[in-house]
Amino acid sequence: MKKALFIFATTILLTSCSEKTVGTVTEVKDVKDAALPTIELTQGKSIYQNKCNQCHELKVIDSFTTERWNKILPDMAKRANLASSDEAILGNYITWELSN
Ligand code: HEC
Repeated sequence: MKKALFIFATTILLTSCSEKTVGTVTEVKDVKDAALPTIELTQGKSIYQNKCNQCHELKVIDSFTTERWNKILPDMAKRANLASSDEAILGNYITWELSN
């Protein structure tokens, strides 16, 4: 119970911090987002869908290994002008996608 509360509080903290920097991308339209287990993952997906298709179509996350993403993400986050907090949230979402 305490652990669940902690996770809940952490999620709220992360969400309230990141909302300041995320601004317009917090809105979620995809109904499948309801299936994501945490708000942070939903946000990560939202960042991905809103920021990562400006220069190319969205890449299929599973097409690249974790090792590849570790190199690709910092590069692409810079190109997409992501705040470091958004990059971290997106990174968590990519990690989650790769293991689900
Ligand atoms: C300013 C332009 C730009 C933005 C914004 C951008 N990319 Fe890219 N991305 C590129 C270019 C250019 C390439 C190389 C050509 C290609 O694969 O289309 C690329 C390639 C990729 C690749 C393939 C890498 C490989 O080794 O084959 C992935 C994955 C990727 N981008 C993910 C992302 C993600 C995730 C974001 C959002 C954080 C993002 N991109 C935002 C320009 C951009």
